Amino acid sequence: MQNRRNIEIAPSILSADFSKLGEEIAAVERGGAGVLHVDVMDGHFVPNITIGLPVVKSIAKATKLPIDTHLMISDPGLYAAQFVSAGAQMVSVHVEADAHLHRTLMSIKSAGAQAGVVLNPATPVGAVEEALEFVDYVLVMSVNPGFGGQKFIPQSVSKVRRLRQMITEKQLNVRIEIDGGIDKLNIEKVVEAGAEIIVAGSAIFGTGNAEAAVKELRNATIQWV
Ligand code: DX5
Ligand code: ZN
Repeated sequence: MQNRRNIEIAPSILSADFSKLGEEIAAVERGGAGVLHVDVMDGHFVPNITIGLPVVKSIAKATKLPIDTHLMISDPGLYAAQFVSAGAQMVSVHVEADAHLHRTLMSIKSAGAQAGVVLNPATPVGAVEEALEFVDYVLVMSVNPGFGGQKFIPQSVSKVRRLRQMITEKQLNVRIEIDGGIDKLNIEKVVEAGAEIIVAGSAIFGTGNAEAAVKELRNATIQWV
């Protein structure tokens, strides 16, 4: 694994206090967050309902951080480009949710954002092999999507490593994002395996000091940046 990489901490606002979202976002900005991770759930693809376009629009006015929308929705092709119009700079869709993945990824790119594809824990890395040429990043879920605060699935580390190898072999410039159960104890392992965008929700907003928590996660990856 090469040493110097662009490692970014992506706080997931799902675990933030929505009644003071602006303050929570300002705190992670001060901590040095690289992007803001926004979990969009439809109660259909995953058993939970969270937030959608109007909230992304408001957040976009309140932060300079790039907004990374993780769409956990069925038929994401119907909505993906709308999230770009709402202010998202990154939009990812689940490979399990989209029968027309290539078309959806192209719609995100032509709308002007980075396109990502997401893998559930039981979905093999091979499921995105043909899509790698069309994406800017692959998001590896290290919990089953739907809720914050779940336990990290340890097999995700070797999955990231296999995906990184596949990307290297194809000589592509695709980043790997990881999401679910990341904390200060396992962050080094996933970065060492090849992840570069590190999502964390409860490990940041559940601590009572989101700014310090982001700094601590960044410090844990300092040897790579
Ligand atoms: C889970 C979401 C995650 C979640 C991460 O479905 O995609 O982004 O908010 O939260 P933690 O870090 O608490 O697992
Ligand atoms: Zn997420």
